[in-house]
Amino acid sequence: MTDLTVPQQLIARSNRLGSDPKNTNYAGGNTSAKGTETDPVTGQPVELVWVKGSGGDLGTLQESGLAVLRLDRMRALVDVYPGIDREDEMVAAFDYCLHGKGGAAPSIDTAMHGLVDAAHVDHLHPDSGIAIATAADGPSLTQQVFGDKVVWVPWRRPGFQLGLDIAEIKEKNPQAVGCILGGHGITAWGDTSEEAETNSLWIIDTAAAYIAEHSSAEPFGAPLEGYGALPESERRAKAAALAGTIRGIASRDAAAAGRSMVGHFTDSDVVLDFLAAAEHPRLAALGTSCPDHFLRTKVKPLVLDLPASASVEESIARLKELHEEYRADYQGYYDRNATPDSPAIRGADPLIVLVPGVGMFSYGKDKQTARVAGEFYVNAINVMRGAEGLSTYAPIDEAEKFRIEYWALEEAKLQRMPKPKPLAGRIALVTGAAGGIGKATAQKLAGEGAVVVVADLDLAKAQAAAAEIGGADVAIGVAADVSDEAAVQAAVDATVLAFGGVDLVVNNAGLSLSKALLDTTGEDFDLQHRVMAKGSFLVAKATAKVMIDQELGGDIIYISSKNSVVAGPNNIAYSATKANQAHQVRLLAAELGAHGIKVNGVNPDGVVQGSGIFASGWGANRAAVYGVEEKDLGKFYAQRTILKKEVLPEHIANAVFVLCGPEMTHTTGLHVPVDAGVAAAFLR
Ligand SMILES: NC(=O)c1ccc[n+]([C@@H]2O[C@H](COP(=O)([O-])OP(=O)(O)OC[C@H]3O[C@@H](n4cnc5c(N)ncnc54)[C@H](O)[C@@H]3O)[C@@H](O)[C@H]2O)c1
Ligand SMILES: [Zn+2]
Repeated sequence: MTDLTVPQQLIARSNRLGSDPKNTNYAGGNTSAKGTETDPVTGQPVELVWVKGSGGDLGTLQESGLAVLRLDRMRALVDVYPGIDREDEMVAAFDYCLHGKGGAAPSIDTAMHGLVDAAHVDHLHPDSGIAIATAADGPSLTQQVFGDKVVWVPWRRPGFQLGLDIAEIKEKNPQAVGCILGGHGITAWGDTSEEAETNSLWIIDTAAAYIAEHSSAEPFGAPLEGYGALPESERRAKAAALAGTIRGIASRDAAAAGRSMVGHFTDSDVVLDFLAAAEHPRLAALGTSCPDHFLRTKVKPLVLDLPASASVEESIARLKELHEEYRADYQGYYDRNATPDSPAIRGADPLIVLVPGVGMFSYGKDKQTARVAGEFYVNAINVMRGAEGLSTYAPIDEAEKFRIEYWALEEAKLQRMPKPKPLAGRIALVTGAAGGIGKATAQKLAGEGAVVVVADLDLAKAQAAAAEIGGADVAIGVAADVSDEAAVQAAVDATVLAFGGVDLVVNNAGLSLSKALLDTTGEDFDLQHRVMAKGSFLVAKATAKVMIDQELGGDIIYISSKNSVVAGPNNIAYSATKANQAHQVRLLAAELGAHGIKVNGVNPDGVVQGSGIFASGWGANRAAVYGVEEKDLGKFYAQRTILKKEVLPEHIANAVFVLCGPEMTHTTGLHVPVDAGVAAAFLR
């Protein structure tokens, strides 16, 4: 331990603290250490403070995530501090305290770490600590729980003044190991890294033990008749049936700006138990408290006020009414609190939607953000349980919440975010995507920012393809035989439960048996029609239902074929079903346009590389017919094309992206040939 440098010790402590969710929420809190190094300019010792920079998570923090400041300059800021009204200016002043290149950008909490006179400081957001921090009688509870070892600091927005407050409290209370920050979290300190960590954990565990021992039996009130959890399969089915509508609700303002939200669903006991108790409507309306929550969860969730037994239709009708009320309420909150220099309203739709008996839907610009929003609301439930169990939950008031949510410094951070990728916020389902054209398409859509569901016959292969694309926040694999209606519905349910809905559907699954008419059996014919004609019909039907509920438009793209227009021998079953798919494009384009859903197709030809169809006999057969070696078939096909180019899976994928991407917004009912030029397949 002793041979670790100061920043290495800090990283090790931060990772230990941050990897246990009882200690702090995702990306919440920050830690610091002070130490001496030799200044390369003067050769003299220089006192430095290493502090977790803006953004990032303690659990995975690395040295590159630390800001490094000179302590003398940082502390000299006290003399130029212009007072609380201009405290935000101090964040820019931190840049003048950096040592060397300074590492990560200093966060708003840097002042607390630099000004408190202790070598090691932890600022954390533990549920147990915030429960005390948001209890109506927080100051007296703090005394009762911790004696004089922990001091109460009244709520104050994070910033330079809070740093000064805590520094003063530490100075006046030499016996104290930390403090409870009203409405917010905890800060603890120590002379050594071990001591700071021990003190942090002592505060967190002591608070949790006190709550466990002294909490009332039913902190959320008595059970509410009819609001208990539905059995698992029933609640999952209801969640899937509601998901499209709820995503549309969460995405209304985003959609007006050309975006949509990705969703996360959880039916954990924490959520279901909260919704099953009498006090949940009052508590949910009080909203969350910890400052990092407001941007992620909004001040409060939308709560469906119907029992678990309410039908999907009743629930949808009521959710739509509640959405209008929520928007009016949020607009009122903005209007009551905004000042002329406040940032513009960021949309009035909920980010958290609670459905009794079913679970919680949370939303964000991508899956990770949506998931973390849900985790934050679970933190909020834990906080409310603790606070209500001991006292009354009393989060900071609305005006303070607004000051955090619409803080100029937060707005500046949002403005600095990189421009989202073209398909960010869009949810894709690609059938037959374990290999070949489908896999290349799933990869392309994910590369352009979409989250993707890879559906194929074999679960392990679908999951392997998804894993190649990215982690579970980017792609998942599901098993589905597209010719089986129940399997298709299950895959669509899995899609909406994983990501909140669906926007881009690629009907790609297929297989090819090249046979002369007299050799084609009835079953050969049926099989190809079941997978391609019927399969794409079933997928289009199940996904269009979700897209219609979402009211966000969408795209359905068929991978049909050159063979849907070109007639040749020995292809009756395959080409006939491809022609069927091609006409589905036109039929559905005509029908679904009313809902803003575009339906288009791609006609590939001669994609040999990576194609399972070619590998499983069709290629050998074609090669024999043309008198070339199977490995040269791609090049052989290339020579038959006008452009003399070989067509690869990624060329088909690129065409799919163009059809559903941000440029091609006014085209539906079209087929795009991707065949390097085959005159017989020209469309007219
Ligand atoms: N390769 C070409 O030259 C070419 C030309 C024109 C059209 N196409 C079409 O492109 C699509 C993809 O073909 P590919 O060449 O990538 O072939 P491929 O065999 O590599 O991929 C097809 C995928 O569909 C899956 N699949 C088959 N039956 C399924 C079912 N019932 N349910 C779910 N998934 C199923 C397979 O497991 C496979 O992963 C097909 O529709 C094909 O007809 C291909
Ligand atoms: Zn904090």
